[in-house]
Order: sequence, then C-alpha cells, then structure tokens
Amino acid sequence: MKNGNPVAPTIIVIFGGTGDLAKRKLVPAFYNLYLDGWMPAKFAIIGLGRTEYSDVEYRYHLYQAMSIFSRSGIPEPQKWEKFSDSITYFQSDINEDATYASLSTKLSEIDALWANRANRLFYLSVAPSYIEAVTTRIGRFALATETGLDRIIVEKPFGYNKQTAIALNDLLRHTFQEKQIYRIDHYLGKETVQNILAFRFANALFEPIWNRNYVHYVQITVAEQVGVEDRGGYYEGSGALRDMIQNHLLQILCMIAMEAPVSFEAEEIRNRKADVLRAIRRIKHEEVHKTAVRGQYASGWMKGHQVAGYREETGVSMNSNTETYAAIKFYLDNWRWQDVPFYLRTGKRMQEKTSSITIQFRPVPHSTFPDNQADSIMPNRLTINIQPQMDIRLRFTAKKPGLEMNLNQVEMVFDYDDCSTQTPEAYETLLLDAMQGDATLFMRSDQVEEAWDVITPILEVWESKESINFPNYAAGSWGPETAEALIAREGHIWAGINFGGNNRNAQSLKK
Ligand code: BG6
Repeated sequence: MKNGNPVAPTIIVIFGGTGDLAKRKLVPAFYNLYLDGWMPAKFAIIGLGRTEYSDVEYRYHLYQAMSIFSRSGIPEPQKWEKFSDSITYFQSDINEDATYASLSTKLSEIDALWANRANRLFYLSVAPSYIEAVTTRIGRFALATETGLDRIIVEKPFGYNKQTAIALNDLLRHTFQEKQIYRIDHYLGKETVQNILAFRFANALFEPIWNRNYVHYVQITVAEQVGVEDRGGYYEGSGALRDMIQNHLLQILCMIAMEAPVSFEAEEIRNRKADVLRAIRRIKHEEVHKTAVRGQYASGWMKGHQVAGYREETGVSMNSNTETYAAIKFYLDNWRWQDVPFYLRTGKRMQEKTSSITIQFRPVPHSTFPDNQADSIMPNRLTINIQPQMDIRLRFTAKKPGLEMNLNQVEMVFDYDDCSTQTPEAYETLLLDAMQGDATLFMRSDQVEEAWDVITPILEVWESKESINFPNYAAGSWGPETAEALIAREGHIWAGINFGGNNRNAQSLKK
C-alpha cells in the first residue's frame, strides 16, 4: 500500500516452486508487476522443488500456466524471455542441510554480481509440516540475518488451532523478527477489500453513521461455486471455519469494524484491527447452537451438471463431519458496535460465486408518506461487492417520476468496470508490499492468535458433536435452511446476491 516506493534489488526464493501456488498465483503476479514496471531493476527468482527440471524446462512449465492463470494472458515472447531470464530452478530437498548450504552460495553469488547485499524474500509455499524444517535451516545457514532487508512470507493455515498458532509464531520468531514475518491473507490484497479503508477514512460522509446508532446489522458473505476440488485431504482436517472464517472473513470484519487509524502506518492499522478481534464477544459453548450454523453439501446441480456431494469427493470420508458451510452471528463489545449483529457466512458449492459485504442501516423512525407507500420505503443499504462483481452500491428510496407520490428503491453505484485501468490481482499487491517492506495488509501474530480464540468455542463444539443431519444442503443451493433461521430470529434476512437489494428487508416500515 506504499506509494511509488522503488523496490531495492531483490532475490525471491520460492520453497514449493513447482507447486500450484507458484504457477497459478506467484509467478503470474511477479510477471504482471514486471509488465507494469513495479519489479526492481535487479531481481532474481529461485524456485525450489524436487522435480527434475533444467532452468529452461522450469521456465517453460511456468510459461504454460501463464495463459491460464495470468490476467494478462499469454505473455509476449520477448517480454517473457526477458522476465524469465531472471528465473532459475534449484532441484533440491528442503529437508536437507546441503540445500541451504548451496542456497547460501547462490545468494552470495548474486550479491557479488550485483555488488550489493540484495533484499531476500523467502516464500514458504509448502505444507505446514515443512515450515519448521525450512525456517530452522534458514536460521542455521544465516540466510536472513539482515533484519531490514530479509523477509519471509508464510501462507495459511497459520496453525490448526490457537495452541498450534502460538507454537508456529514462536517457531518463526526463532529465526525472524516479527517485522520480517509476512503472514499472507490474499483477501486483504483484493482491490475491493483495500478500498474499504479509502471508502471509510477518505470520506467524511459515512463515518458519522458508521455505528450502532445507524447501522442495524452487517453481513459478510463469501460464497463459492467450487467444491473442494482435489483438496479433499486438506479440507477434511480444515472445514469452512478454519479455511475461510478464521482468516478471510474475520479480516474483512476487521476492516469494516475498526476505528479510524491515526495514520496509515502498518502498526497503527494492525493495532486497530487487533482491537476489533479482541472486542468480538466470545461465544459460550452452550450457545454455539444458537449463534452458529454448519452445513455440508450433498450432490446437486450446478449450471445444468450434476455434481458429487462432499462425502463422495476424493480424499473425503464417507461419514465426514467436516463443514463446507458456516454461518455465524458475532457481536462486538465496544461503544461503536454494541448490539449490532455481524453475520458471517461462507460455503462451497453455493448457487453463485459472490463475496459481498452488506451494511444494513436502520429504518426511518417515522413514515411521513401515505400508508400505501409504507411498503415501498426500505431502510438504506450499502453493499460492497468484492468479487466477481466489484462495486459499491448505496440503496435509497426516491420518488418515482410522475404526478403521484409513489416511492421506489434506487441505487447509486460505483462500478470498478468503469475505471480504465486493469485491476491488479491480490497477489500482485501483496508481493509488491512485501518487497517494499510494507506489512499493513499482512497479519500480525496477535491477530492470528485472537482470530483463533474467536472461533475456538465453535470449533470445539462442532468437533465434539457430530452433526446428525449432514449432508444438509444440496450443491447449487444457498446452504442449509437453518442459516435463514439463525438470522430470522432477529427479524433479519440474508441479502440477495449481486445487488444487496432485490429482496425486501424484514424491517419494513409497516412492522
Ligand atoms: C482459500 C481457501 O484461502 O481461499 C479456499 O483455502 C478458497 O478453499 C479460496 O477456495 C477462495 O479464494 P478466492 O480468492 O477464490 O475467493
């Protein structure tokens, strides 16, 4: 999020260089940064993996993925050639000391060639079980001793629960200082999520009404159409709570609920977000059934095709108790948000892919209009569509043009499609930030631990009590019916997709 800071010469070391993330996200992101002139004048990317590749073969492996995964499509041969000249492959075993001894030599050789100690960015794109092996050896071979220049990016999951997250943080701190550790949550790099900060704190208009006096409730939805794909093995031990709520959805909640930061410094923003996590009321075990709903998809129909249920997916147990859907009602114990429900929901195999935030404002206190118009007045609603639709919509009531006083719902819309520039991918933003040493959009250890603390009671109850009605929603639906009931108790309904407005708000003026 820093503006125009030149990036110093940087060596990027990708552990897991032959994995999915490297070819789908990391290398396309570096390439697009390169095209847009954001890469440092001198950079080197070293991919580590066990597969046997020459440099040329490795570059070709990455090139093939570009046409599918890069927002800029198939690279122009000359540009790709120039960019990929900086990519080398190091066939190695990350559990072996020898790997790090050689890596150390390679890094020093590049420093000597550039006549400068370059920044080093270590990207851990490996399964959690390898983190210890890699980080302890980075330490042992003194690869990241320049605390101002060397950084490590760690992918989620950050632990499996609060205890393991604390252990992981301790482990990372053996080798790195906290300021060197970049825990990536790709949702924070999404353009629309970053814009929440601009929307809230660069406008005087919304902040005065951004509180319990005007906001009735908040909804955060991340709905996916995909199932678990080929990640059944991982997902079985994760579920929607760990996979999505603990990180992405709680981070969005923080952006919506945080107090105004005094400055745009990383620590200041992260402090304000940590305050939110601390303020979230911890749900008592005996209240989990009233505040959280879990679901698991059965087979169903998606876009005219029949798809398998979760229990039929590869790597998934036939009796799995893992949730693929979660909806939770949170409250924040602070002055700004007391008694305002924050509803979070996420699910796989939902009818539509959509991520959105709904800020539902309170109804007007008194209807001035004739009785026959009362139903036409709906409380104002602000919808921030994160993806795939990217816009901000403010719904309000207006007079229908004509001789009578008839009311209607209309919207003011800011649509990202109207902006001429291409929207960068989340990984582009985050990798650039990491190269620039800006940790604002990365998670600090205390945030991670607090976020685990928030979901621990739900995890414990769901793990200790098997769900008797799984699977309880059909693929291609909007999740279990009990999720409707969860918020209907407060007289609320889930916002319609794409619009945050086609459906009526339960609090119409008549009630
Ligand atoms: C990842 C989860 O963190 O986010 C996946 O592990 C999920 O299960 C993905 O599909 C969703 O990300 P996006 O950017 O596609 O919404």
